[in-house]
Amino acid sequence: MNDELVPDALKKAYSREEIIDKEKKHIVPTVGHYYKDPVLFVEGEGAVLKDSEGHEYIDLFAGICTTITGYAHPKLVATLKWQAERLIYTSTLYSTVPYPILAEKLAKVAPPGLSQAYIVSSGSEANEHALFMARKYTKSPYIIACSRGYHGRTALTREISSSGWRSVPESHPPGVRFTPNGHCYRCQFGKEFPDCDFECARYLREVVRTQTNKALAAFIAEPIQGVGGIIQPPKEYFQIVHEIVKEYGGLYISDEVQTGFGRTGGKWWGIQHAGVEPDIITMAKGFGSGLPIGGFLTKPEYAEDFMMIDGFATFGGNPLTCAGAIAVLEIIEESGYLEKAAKNGEYMKKKLQGLQEDHKIIGDVRGQGLMIGVELVRDKKTKEPASQEILKVMEITKEKGLLIGKGGLDNNVIRIQPPLELTQPQIDSACIILDEAFTEVEKSL
Ligand SMILES: Cc1ncc(COP(=O)(O)O)c(C=O)c1O
Repeated sequence: MNDELVPDALKKAYSREEIIDKEKKHIVPTVGHYYKDPVLFVEGEGAVLKDSEGHEYIDLFAGICTTITGYAHPKLVATLKWQAERLIYTSTLYSTVPYPILAEKLAKVAPPGLSQAYIVSSGSEANEHALFMARKYTKSPYIIACSRGYHGRTALTREISSSGWRSVPESHPPGVRFTPNGHCYRCQFGKEFPDCDFECARYLREVVRTQTNKALAAFIAEPIQGVGGIIQPPKEYFQIVHEIVKEYGGLYISDEVQTGFGRTGGKWWGIQHAGVEPDIITMAKGFGSGLPIGGFLTKPEYAEDFMMIDGFATFGGNPLTCAGAIAVLEIIEESGYLEKAAKNGEYMKKKLQGLQEDHKIIGDVRGQGLMIGVELVRDKKTKEPASQEILKVMEITKEKGLLIGKGGLDNNVIRIQPPLELTQPQIDSACIILDEAFTEVEKSL
């Protein structure tokens, strides 16, 4: 590799202030950062990021649940270099090697029957295309999504999201309907699991009967809601909902943008823990471990009439990101990420449950594998969201070299969705820092 050819503008050692100044001048404000004093990251290795001043941070958020192989994974870096030297891009008007090889590899780890893939560049695009295909196949306009879900920021995917981000009045496009999610900590029906008879799941029938012509295009849901605050309904929720969706002719879309690729531990896809067989799986984030790639997997019969006029994306299926994703799939298998996520996830959840006993600010610890939520409340009885306190926790943990995520309708849930490369000693250090941060913040409660 000839470093001399790399632009000097890229190689210069910028200060944090210089870069933040350039951001303010030249980037629209929608690109906002965590932390009062934003961090400038310049490199990383494994589950650790390094900032421009040389400080290291254990990363429990993987740049929003994305860099599953950690940073600078040698196999991913080598694959990208190798492919870039040969062919970065040509469109899908021509055949290239990586796309079909990737699709074949995906089919091998897919749930039964999902043997065909369509590759794009993001999770929003993946959902948008999957929903289009479902509508075309079923000839129905009706899409049902879950409350507190998140599916993206394109026109349709933002309309089927309800995790609380609406800054302008929006009118829902025809055909979009919502059904309750399964949220045991804050049950919308005021019930207690497991004596609730899963009213949240059964309510879907009421939605279908009262708000559609009783023929569905699709139901779309995350197995564990990520942006919504790591909300995992019991497995019966998915089983009941799946049965109702099939009864009314809809396709079941499992949005695995966050839960895919082993994150939930022991399985490739989150929905597999519920024993439900989806008709479509959508994916992104961990798929490329940081590369812009998304897509869906489906059964050939649903895709039969999904033509180029229906689905086309200039960057979809490009050789560089597909080659990278092939490397990611191999790394997941070679590094035993499914087992690691299960084992380390269990280990970390237990430690966090221990902290829950010691700290009045922790209302709930939930999730599966390395997708864990810690809901912060001002009072364990009233469950008043600790939306301000979480900001303090984030500032303190950052100062101590730990990155965490945040989510939930009230922005009071710590999101732990680290690289699957995270080690147990790193989990130990992270939990010590969290313990200290909770102790500090509780003083003001
Ligand atoms: C479950 C889920 N689906 C879809 C998306 C949209 O993905 P992208 O941001 O790649 O468009 C996200 C992003 O956070 C997500 O969490």
